[in-house]
Amino acid sequence: MTNRTFTMIKPDAMQDGHAGAILDQITKAGFSIVALKLTRLSEEKAGEFYAVHKERPFFGELTEFMSSGKIIAAVLEKENAVADFRKLIGATNPANADEGTIRKRFARSVGENAVHGSDSDENAAIEASFFFSALEQFA
Ligand code: RTP
Ligand code: MG
Repeated sequence: MTNRTFTMIKPDAMQDGHAGAILDQITKAGFSIVALKLTRLSEEKAGEFYAVHKERPFFGELTEFMSSGKIIAAVLEKENAVADFRKLIGATNPANADEGTIRKRFARSVGENAVHGSDSDENAAIEASFFFSALEQFA
């Protein structure tokens, strides 16, 4: 079944000039872009987005980092989108990510790991709606 996932290119990859190469790898892997925007999160908005991690020791670092620069947010469509995209980006810690994955190629560290990928269909829909109106997800 064709379905959707949500991604962000995080501030490290934006600052390191990898946005174009990452979007290229995503589309070459068969994902089509349904919605796309360049924006910047406030620390408060980053905290809302990652609220599930509120009690984790890295939460402060995470929201500070995610609001430290520009990001690209996108909704992607492909058969088996959520699981296939997690495979394409690789493990959270780039040191453990498979060769050729986006995090292996472009991430700096476990905290500054180049891209976000939704972990379920339900969260993909919630996260897409965090950034995009229904009209912006029409494609
Ligand atoms: P994401 O949500 O960004 O796609 O990453 P993920 O599912 O692979 O990892 P998750 O457990 O959801 O963690 C969210 C983000 O928090 C940062 N993190 N830092 N310093 C640390 O030990 C640590 N652990 C996680 C990473 O930016 C991670 O992507
Ligand atoms: Mg996650």
